[in-house]
Amino acid sequence: MHKHSIIIDTDPGQDDALAILLALASADIELLGITAVAGNVPLPLTEVNARKICELAGRPETKVFAGASRPMLRSLITAEHVHGKTGLDGPILPEPKMPLQKQFAPDFIIETLMSHPAGTVTLCCLGPLTNIGLALVKEPRIASRIKRIIAMGGGWSEGGNITPAAEFNIYVDPQAARLVFQCGAPITLIPLDCTHKAIATRQRIEKFRAMKNKTGPAVAEMLDFFERFDIEKYGSEGGPLHDPCVVAWLLHPEMFSGKDVNVEIECESELTMGQTVVDWWRVTNRKPNAHVVRGLDADGFYKLLTQRLLTLP
Ligand code: RIB
Ligand code: CA
Repeated sequence: MHKHSIIIDTDPGQDDALAILLALASADIELLGITAVAGNVPLPLTEVNARKICELAGRPETKVFAGASRPMLRSLITAEHVHGKTGLDGPILPEPKMPLQKQFAPDFIIETLMSHPAGTVTLCCLGPLTNIGLALVKEPRIASRIKRIIAMGGGWSEGGNITPAAEFNIYVDPQAARLVFQCGAPITLIPLDCTHKAIATRQRIEKFRAMKNKTGPAVAEMLDFFERFDIEKYGSEGGPLHDPCVVAWLLHPEMFSGKDVNVEIECESELTMGQTVVDWWRVTNRKPNAHVVRGLDADGFYKLLTQRLLTLP
């Protein structure tokens, strides 16, 4: 019996890839499906990348669905400057042979949540929240059936990474993010304040490269490429592994620390569009609607990642 039944919503993305690989390598996770969304790169690439990652993990039976090709209201912003033209630059991975599911991703999310017992399915969100927003608009009843939404996104004291105020996932589709944060489902938000502590240093990347399987060296090549942006922008010792923090929090929340506070999403001002306004010190009477994570045991996180990825082909 699996401990966690999840759907991963994602815009791969090298860091998304490691999150998906961690989930596929975890026996305590039942991955019901992967839903691709436009984000780091356009949808035709994110859905192919999701399938490439499943085949790298030796899991071609995984169900992958394509979702929104653009945000609910705004035009699509992509991040080839971080992830490369393909969105998964680094290793050369073969074109996928496994099929793309026919069903529209938001419909798969609705069908899964309505057919599973309430409170048993977790949504692990690694990209812009467009698919979740669309599902909530089409079938509002899913909100009370979601066990938890664990989303990588936003920033508090860390500010933004795509504008001074906003983090990429939220910035791409702030309206969808607002719908999610107002839907009433339990939410764990993993912002840049946490993920910037998950730096893939040279030493950590070499541990992946030294693995005797296919996955380790491929992951090292992904991170060799992925780190350029953050090293140049932040002068950090490597790229932050944002998205694997979502799956790691699901598996080992004790590796993290945070607080239940109110989070609102800026959707009016172009200057601060997509900012996550986190009431960390509870200076307003706005109701807490998310568990916001800021602390991370980085060594424990990388130990978990390394141990689990070793079990893949
Ligand atoms: O800001 C970081 C987030 O945006 C990560 O999920 C990364 O994959 C991109 O989607
Ligand atoms: Ca992502």
